[in-house]
Amino acid sequence: MKTEAPNPNTIVWFNEKFIPLGEANVNILTHALNYGTGVFEGIRGYFEEKQQDLFLVRPVEHYQRWKRNAGILRIGIPKSATDLAALTAELCRRNGFRSHVYVRPLAYKCSARIGVAPDENDAYAIVVVPFGDYFDSTKGLRAGVVSWRRVEDTAIPSRAKICGAYVNSVLATDEARHNGHDEAIFLTEEGHVSDSATCNLFIFRNGKLVTPPGTDNILEGITRASVIDLARNEMRLEVVERSISRSELYVSDEVFFTGTAVEIAPIVAVDHRPVGTGEVGPVATKLRSLYVEATRGRLLNYRQWLWPVYRTTAADKAA
Ligand SMILES: Cc1ncc(COP(=O)(O)O)c(C=O)c1O
Repeated sequence: MKTEAPNPNTIVWFNEKFIPLGEANVNILTHALNYGTGVFEGIRGYFEEKQQDLFLVRPVEHYQRWKRNAGILRIGIPKSATDLAALTAELCRRNGFRSHVYVRPLAYKCSARIGVAPDENDAYAIVVVPFGDYFDSTKGLRAGVVSWRRVEDTAIPSRAKICGAYVNSVLATDEARHNGHDEAIFLTEEGHVSDSATCNLFIFRNGKLVTPPGTDNILEGITRASVIDLARNEMRLEVVERSISRSELYVSDEVFFTGTAVEIAPIVAVDHRPVGTGEVGPVATKLRSLYVEATRGRLLNYRQWLWPVYRTTAADKAA
């Protein structure tokens, strides 16, 4: 999905102020722009017509991860995760969003000078934009294992969304698309299946759901955690976190990606080989519909995942 440039009048949070996106600019010598020293997040919000409300999905967990990971680059974010979630809801109200949205928080080294050595000058911003479906989930995606290996934790920690590390994902996506695939699948240096360029990966094999462990250079996805909960609690499926070999991708009944942007994306072919029947499978289909119901506020057991934007009183939140 190619996203359009957002409306420059969109109100964003930048330098501790609400200002139009068109005025939220940085100096060309900014450290993060030159050396990749920033940490970003991705959060979704879904507008539910029936309840006339916009639900941010697990914003506090995302902001906790963001603050933790920014600490890896010694970037400080001066607000609590809960205050950041409230600020994001305020941004949605100020823009009057009544559609699905995507939230992009970014924290970065902001000094404008030459030299890699980082200093204490940090900045952060939050942008919210309208955001529809990432792809047509009925068709399923075609994926390809790429020759680029996943960044190693010993080089740049892939458990954090570090700007500079996403060059790895850009190269992988570029190679995969040139090879006729929609998305890339990374292997670790040891040859274990890791992440895709922007998603976590699951296989369904021998009646079990299997996903790579945190030690295989994955990003510890929040959607991954949601899917594990839904699979165990709503489908009584056994979920195993273990290393996956490349060839398991070719002999599994189902393969699918999970991520804030793609939600649950069934994979119908890997390396030009059909997965299972070559059609979108029943497990991914069921999980996707559970995820959609839960993130639109239709499953009461999962309301704690949601931060309502237009019904924001503490009493309502506790409800
Ligand atoms: C490399 C990578 N893996 C996995 C994910 C999925 O993480 P989450 O479910 O928290 O969005 C992302 C999200 O953008 C990602 O960039």
